[in-house]
Amino acid sequence: MNEMTGESINLVYSSEYGHLYQGDCLELMAQMGDGSVDLVFADPPFNLNKDYGKGINDSLDDADYLDWCRGWISDGIRVLADGGSFFLYNLPKWNIELGHYLGDQGMMFRHWIAIDLKMMLPVPGRLYPSHYSLLYYTKGKPKAFTRPRYPVPVCRHCGGDIKDYGGHRNKLNPEGLNVADVWTDIPPVRHRGTKRRGANELSEKLLKRVVTIGSDEGDLIFDPFGGSGTTYAVAERMHRHWLGIELGDAEPIIARLEGRDFYVEAPNNGDAGKGMTSQRRVKVNSKIDHPSLF
Ligand SMILES: C[S@@+](CC[C@H](N)C(=O)[O-])C[C@H]1O[C@@H](n2cnc3c(N)ncnc32)[C@H](O)[C@@H]1O
Repeated sequence: MNEMTGESINLVYSSEYGHLYQGDCLELMAQMGDGSVDLVFADPPFNLNKDYGKGINDSLDDADYLDWCRGWISDGIRVLADGGSFFLYNLPKWNIELGHYLGDQGMMFRHWIAIDLKMMLPVPGRLYPSHYSLLYYTKGKPKAFTRPRYPVPVCRHCGGDIKDYGGHRNKLNPEGLNVADVWTDIPPVRHRGTKRRGANELSEKLLKRVVTIGSDEGDLIFDPFGGSGTTYAVAERMHRHWLGIELGDAEPIIARLEGRDFYVEAPNNGDAGKGMTSQRRVKVNSKIDHPSLF
């Protein structure tokens, strides 16, 4: 996947909770000890021919892409502690293969979570793809598991319940409904002012839920594909330690973690280019926090 740049990894940011490196995640993982992290969350490039910047080929043959994924997944499993959680976010096309691989490596299947996100384009001759896949595996019996709840959905016009719950509304848990394996409440990330999709960024709400489900306070979370740093920002706020790396431009992540505004620029500036139609610089307000509903 990645051409060897000859550069080794560099520590570019540290906080009370985490460390961010710039470089190839495979190199970082080679230096990490067996069983040293409690949760792995991975949102790799999807091999959709996106511009991720120098040194990243996002248009591999299917077999090469899957080989590359198996490489970092195998290291991810090695560095995961017994009972740790492994979350892998990708297109169903890839996750059906990669879930099989995780099972072959002895990982325990927990869930295929469908994230309903109508951000994709219709594909001629196919059904309209409207979900991403979030695989959730554990290394043996989970050592941390919390089943989150979310508020009972209400009509945004009248405030009344959307469903009638078969007349058992009064028996619902006052803390809300159990989160199921289909998530329809994850918003796409749009930045105020620009209304553009920024830096290939996942919703903080998605990460908060993942971190809640699969880790405890004080655990160490590892995300090998930094992007805009959503995992690290959420880990900080949820008092989890974190370890991160980004092969492209790490500055947007640092700015976000430091609470500074940052600029994303396309192309050839790491992940920043994805989803943008022009090359102008776009200001992103790092202080925007996406509302959490659980
Ligand atoms: C889909 S994005 C991750 C977005 C992130 N989850 C977020 O919410 O901001 C994938 C990122 O992985 C980076 N990347 C690709 N190959 C990498 C590698 N071998 N090591 C580290 N980062 C890599 C890309 O530059 C890109 O920023």
